[in-house]
Amino acid sequence: MDPLVIFTPSGKRGRFPKGTPILTVARQLGVDLDSVCGGRGICSKCQVSPSYGEFSKHGVTVKPDALSEWNDVEARYDRVRGLKEGRRLGCQATVQGDVVIDVPPESQVHKQVVRKAAAVRAITMDPATRLYYVEVAEPDMHEPSGDLERLKRALAEQWEIGTDGLSVPLPVLSKLQPALRKGDWAVTVALYKGHGDANERVLDVWPGFWEERLYGLAIDLGSTTIAAHLCDLRNGEVVASAGVMNPQIRFGEDLMSRVSYSMMNEGGAGEMTTAVRGALNTLAEEIAGEAGIEPAQIMETVFVCNPVMHHLLLGIDPVELGQAPFALATSDSLSLAADELDLRAVNPAARAYVLPCIAGHVGADAAAVALSEEPYLSDDLVLIVDVGTNAEIQLGDKRRVLACSSPTGPAFEGAQISSGQRAAPGAIERVEIDPATKEPRFKVIGCDLWSDEDGFAEAAAATGISGICGSGIIEAVAEMRSAGVMDAKGLIGSAAQTGTERCIAEGRTHAYAIHDGRADGGPLITVTQGDIRAIQLAKSALYAGARLLMDEIDTDTVDRVVLAGAFGAHISPKHAMVLGMIPDCPLDKVTSAGNAAGTGARIALCNRAARGEIERRVHEIHKVETAIEPRFQEHFVAANAIPHATAPFPELRK
Ligand code: FES
Repeated sequence: MDPLVIFTPSGKRGRFPKGTPILTVARQLGVDLDSVCGGRGICSKCQVSPSYGEFSKHGVTVKPDALSEWNDVEARYDRVRGLKEGRRLGCQATVQGDVVIDVPPESQVHKQVVRKAAAVRAITMDPATRLYYVEVAEPDMHEPSGDLERLKRALAEQWEIGTDGLSVPLPVLSKLQPALRKGDWAVTVALYKGHGDANERVLDVWPGFWEERLYGLAIDLGSTTIAAHLCDLRNGEVVASAGVMNPQIRFGEDLMSRVSYSMMNEGGAGEMTTAVRGALNTLAEEIAGEAGIEPAQIMETVFVCNPVMHHLLLGIDPVELGQAPFALATSDSLSLAADELDLRAVNPAARAYVLPCIAGHVGADAAAVALSEEPYLSDDLVLIVDVGTNAEIQLGDKRRVLACSSPTGPAFEGAQISSGQRAAPGAIERVEIDPATKEPRFKVIGCDLWSDEDGFAEAAAATGISGICGSGIIEAVAEMRSAGVMDAKGLIGSAAQTGTERCIAEGRTHAYAIHDGRADGGPLITVTQGDIRAIQLAKSALYAGARLLMDEIDTDTVDRVVLAGAFGAHISPKHAMVLGMIPDCPLDKVTSAGNAAGTGARIALCNRAARGEIERRVHEIHKVETAIEPRFQEHFVAANAIPHATAPFPELRK
């Protein structure tokens, strides 16, 4: 009987004749074992660990001679590059007896990468771009085929790649001849095959066995900031992250003002497109420099963005998005040459994938959040809120998912707030107010101490205290309500009414002073009546959007709330609920997903099947248009009170 080969962790098994290479066995059993050099003992991607001893569970005993001795190729590899103790090259070691073979994670093509985000879900690696090492026949006077034709034949024979429709861009074709000759008729090629593609395309070619790695950029293109993660396309690891301000801010702080800029200025959309593409190139260069790689190693880019940014990235005038019926030029995903987006600081043949949009106001960033948080697989009813200048809201479970966007404005980001600033060192980010004394204590970004702790003044001197950021203003307003400094309508009381001199008169209204640094040349940081109004407008819009979706499925409660977005990561659930930003829900069921849109971009970058998945799912998401829904206004007005005019918020009483 032929020897039995059992693979772990997959458990796949089969009997194979003595002398069969482990890589061949793995391929025949469908075991996930990597190879770039096609079994030539060059790449070492096929490393396995044979186990010896009794395996009563499998009914086999594995003896030390279950695999062949090292052959010359394996011995040379070990001599030159070194094999870890107990490891064998799967392409060189052959079966000699019953054997149990472990495939370590780094030798698996479709390895799972654990996400760093709070809600841990593994990303299965299945990138669209992979490297293949091929040995190509030399040209022959008697067989007049071109170098490309012989490369195609080699790919078909050595990798079983269908090459009839294989496309090769001209710049790559021009590199092929020198690469083949320099590599002594062997080359490494990068092939791209998207999830819907019938054929592969060649992205690059290098002489011989090319040992470097390929990378992809997952880009969250926001209206305020652009964040990018550089990911290793072999294992999904984030090797560098960077962000820049979106330079379009000079054309308008929020999305609608950018649409207006485009309407009012001929060529305005083009100016904004040029600005954002320039920033993307700078960002790609910086991130490659930080990671110590060549920009040419960046083979793929994946974009998630709101509809207006989506159009401006693509060079499409967003004017239609500024008026009903808010028609997108296309809601489908796009697979493009990065070159078409003027991305120069990447490989010249790099690809760009833009996730699909859900609707005219619910963009590819919301699709990415859905891909990351998978509401469509949830057993319980989940409300996902991606808080930014526009809140994108999703509600659903595995039966159905609804989505809308709500115009919260920039108040939650600290803009339109009298002492507001972006979340940066020196910004007040946490606030507590003692209900008895009405005295505040606070923390600033860049300093670990609370303001009433010993050593705070010295510690905070490094950053200074310059203003209050989005999470700080939310906590401040919620604490003012809880401490009785402000009533349910949002009116700040006078010093006489509240019993604290921190309530200071400002014309006919009042403001609450959190910090007075004027004696040392610093600012007086207050929360004014105007600030309260701005926060009320923003939180009412957010709540009304969520409530509208809840009406659609006739529910007054949700099982859990997920706060997404960089800002969501810093909001305290208790303060968000005291303010009435989100519907009532057990506080321990309010979680933060961090930058879920960025995570969705990473998933789409690392796993091409995920692209197909989200393309299918967005068609099933029911869109609700807040701008034309009369109940939105009713909900908005009722939500103006803090926490709400009519909703009871029983969880807050616990
Ligand atoms: Fe490349 Fe084994 S497959 S070394």
